[in-house]
Amino acid sequence: SLDLSCALVIFGATGDLTHRKLLPAIYNLYQQKVLSDNFALIAIGRRDKTNEEYRVEVYKSIKQFSRFSIEEEVWDGIKNRIYYKSMDFLQKEKYVELNDFLTEMDRKHNTKGNRIYYMAVAPEYFEGIVDKLSSCCMNKVEKAWKRVVIEKPFGRDLQSAKYLNSKIVDVFQEENTYRIDHYLGKEMLQNIMVLRFANMLFEPLWNNKYIDNIQISSSETVGVENRGGYYERAGAMRDMVQSHMLQLISLIGMEPPNDLDPESIRNEKVKVLKALKRINLEDIEENVVRGQYSSGQSDKETIIGYREEKRVASSSNTETFVALKVYIENFRWARIPFYIRTGKRMPKKSTEIIIQFKSIEDILYFKEKQLQPNMLVIRIQPREGVFFQFNAKEPGTEQNIIPVQMDFCQNCQIGINSPEAYERLLYDVMRGDATLFARWDEVEYSWKFVDSILEAWKNQNPTFPNYEAGTWGPKEAELLLQKDKKRWMNI
Ligand code: BG6
Repeated sequence: SLDLSCALVIFGATGDLTHRKLLPAIYNLYQQKVLSDNFALIAIGRRDKTNEEYRVEVYKSIKQFSRFSIEEEVWDGIKNRIYYKSMDFLQKEKYVELNDFLTEMDRKHNTKGNRIYYMAVAPEYFEGIVDKLSSCCMNKVEKAWKRVVIEKPFGRDLQSAKYLNSKIVDVFQEENTYRIDHYLGKEMLQNIMVLRFANMLFEPLWNNKYIDNIQISSSETVGVENRGGYYERAGAMRDMVQSHMLQLISLIGMEPPNDLDPESIRNEKVKVLKALKRINLEDIEENVVRGQYSSGQSDKETIIGYREEKRVASSSNTETFVALKVYIENFRWARIPFYIRTGKRMPKKSTEIIIQFKSIEDILYFKEKQLQPNMLVIRIQPREGVFFQFNAKEPGTEQNIIPVQMDFCQNCQIGINSPEAYERLLYDVMRGDATLFARWDEVEYSWKFVDSILEAWKNQNPTFPNYEAGTWGPKEAELLLQKDKKRWMNI
């Protein structure tokens, strides 16, 4: 069996990500007996706190956010492996002390010197921390591995991403650099390749001869919560499109890899990103819609507009919604539009991919009838599953044709608890499998595509806000598809 002995060192002990995602994921892995007995977690934060105080907070977070209910014996087993270290990450001298502390942890928990450095801090600290780890030789391999996990956003444009990348790869090398895109850890994203390449019913049809268009929607009901400061500088394009949405496109669009090695898979994904047709100022009106929510009404309460959120400028032009029409310029996909949309404060939380097939030839049954096209829907969340719509005869004496559906609900049929994305991803870092992490060239080509749009935006003044909280975005998003005689599907 695999040796997963290691210390997980989290920079950003008190942050949201650590409490909502990382700590519960570690607990879940431990509860499922996946973690090694030789494991320690060292959480680093600026505030002063004892181990005991920190453990109380960890317990609460696990209780609130884990998909399992907390079991006291399990908690007893893991709590003494959790440590808090208070430290200013930007002070070089502190790293000498940290190194001693980690060496002591290695001894105490027999973690064999294997370490994961997890950057769960604001992006502006990534470089500084990596730099100081290297100045204290904490990246040195010496019979043990050292891996670094970088949260998104990886840079804020191509140039800054390149700079950051060169700093990180200098210290840790590409093979030890794990760029997280947590969507890749979601069960149904991993299922996309299986659905495509393990089914004779789908594989031969997966191209521009049989598919009419593909829609990828990821909607959220939440606003920006307490992340106004970050979001102001990001916006939906950097926050969702550059990473998650383009990863979805590349999985849907990629050619079959030769084998399942991380490099083979990522080679194919990056080809899709390279083939994305750039959108420039001349064609931006045609292909891109951006939006920002104003106040609105939910079932129970009035929701404030984006410009009223904390740490958001009252004249902010940051987009909280984007819709795009994207083309992949290769033989498989030429002329097939991929419509993407994502936004905050939409009517429901949902991520799904809708593959709409072409209509059947205009003879026989089709004559004088408006048949519905076949539709395959890959539901990513919150429901997980696959939905397929086809045509059948309506029972009765008339020759009527109706669309009928097959609906495979994964959470109902196979079990409710798919692992959380972060569980899968942390496990993969421990065993050294980078398949579900973005390789540098994926990040690079995503930025190349996104940068062209961001650049064009600089020359346009949006009229914000332009959609009410709790709606499906600005009306221009509907028009984007209407122009092509299509509409957004909500399955
Ligand atoms: C994050 C974004 O990467 O993904 C957030 O920074 C967004 O703004 C989140 O809310 C959505 O993730 P999920 O897993 O809830 O779809």
